[in-house]
Amino acid sequence: MKRVKICLAGPGNVGKHFVKLLIERNELFKKQYGIDLQLFAVAGSKGGVISSSPLDLEKVYHYSSQEPWKSYFPGYGIDDLKSWQIISDSETDLLVEATPSDLKTGEPGLTNFKAAIKAGINIVTLAKGALVTDFAGLMKNAAKQNLSIKFSGATAAALPTVDIAHYCLAGATIKKISGILNGTTNYILTKMAREGVDFNTALKEAQKMGVAEPKPDLDIEGWDTAAKIVIITNATFGSELSLKDISVAGIKEVTLERIEEASLKGKTIKLIGESGLENNRYKQTNQDIKNKVFVKPLALENHHTLARVDGTTKAIHFETDIFGDLTVVGGKSDPRAAAAAAIKDIINLARERF
Ligand SMILES: NC(=O)c1ccc[n+]([C@@H]2O[C@H](COP(=O)([O-])OP(=O)(O)OC[C@H]3O[C@@H](n4cnc5c(N)ncnc54)[C@H](OP(=O)(O)O)[C@@H]3O)[C@@H](O)[C@H]2O)c1
Repeated sequence: MKRVKICLAGPGNVGKHFVKLLIERNELFKKQYGIDLQLFAVAGSKGGVISSSPLDLEKVYHYSSQEPWKSYFPGYGIDDLKSWQIISDSETDLLVEATPSDLKTGEPGLTNFKAAIKAGINIVTLAKGALVTDFAGLMKNAAKQNLSIKFSGATAAALPTVDIAHYCLAGATIKKISGILNGTTNYILTKMAREGVDFNTALKEAQKMGVAEPKPDLDIEGWDTAAKIVIITNATFGSELSLKDISVAGIKEVTLERIEEASLKGKTIKLIGESGLENNRYKQTNQDIKNKVFVKPLALENHHTLARVDGTTKAIHFETDIFGDLTVVGGKSDPRAAAAAAIKDIINLARERF
């Protein structure tokens, strides 16, 4: 039996679903994969817990951030350490990084990643921040220490993206990747096209349905899609891009008139994250990169597979030389599915490394 000692940073929405999946499925993982996933440490925004034996998962699941860690876990709860310090001291094999994503600073993930790498801990991340600010640096440092970083949960979660490129398309030249990588914006554009409502009405409806957040800027301005396409591009083409290197436009400027005009021409407008670095085979100027890696609303021919992906559904389309074109569509867009993407990464990482 391979035992994986885990430290969870960010016991919030996704973090709790991750713990719940461990409660529900670890016995299955032991039988099916010979892998025993055990939680030994949790790092939150105001302290955490480090244990020398596996933590009681039900107790972690019911933790509320209002409660001091010291009184919730008497004897080993800690109220006065930062998350990176807990990670450093955790003596675990693997960090699950589920803290908030700050796409500008990369924090708190960036400091947590550095602490994990220094302490010899592999990383499975749901947070995008660290990867969009210093993808290349983190990967190089992890490789030097013979550590892995996996990030399905940060690149459209339940929809497989980098795993398709790495495993299923190995050996091919990927000429272009394009994706509908954000469910909120796709829901809004679908609603505008189907029901003839304007952007603001569609956004309000999305907020009422819980599809859009009260502060939806990262989604509607294209930054969430941009973060995902930057990570997918770096992971697939070996580039070293950050968010500032690519051009990004969201859907605020998409009017009903533009959608109707496209429809008359047999086209559908979708917010597309696209990357055409072609395995990074030649030196590219900054302008080349901005032309080839971008986020913008595109009018797609109605017969394009991505044009038919509606509502909150996400999809990714690959153009390759020897495999031809292929599209993957679907996967749930909720915190449990995001946590499941982290579990998938851990199982695959444990199969490869432990
Ligand atoms: N929600 C989804 O469906 C989804 C899907 C894919 C990826 N993600 C990514 O997953 C991550 C977590 O999302 P979420 O929805 O679970 O967010 P959330 O509910 O806000 O949870 C964030 C957690 O991180 C903790 N935290 C805040 N600052 C911290 C710090 N400096 N050090 C350690 N912990 C800290 C919070 O603790 P306090 O409560 O004490 O502040 C909370 O426990 C984000 O990066 C998000 O982009 C989410």
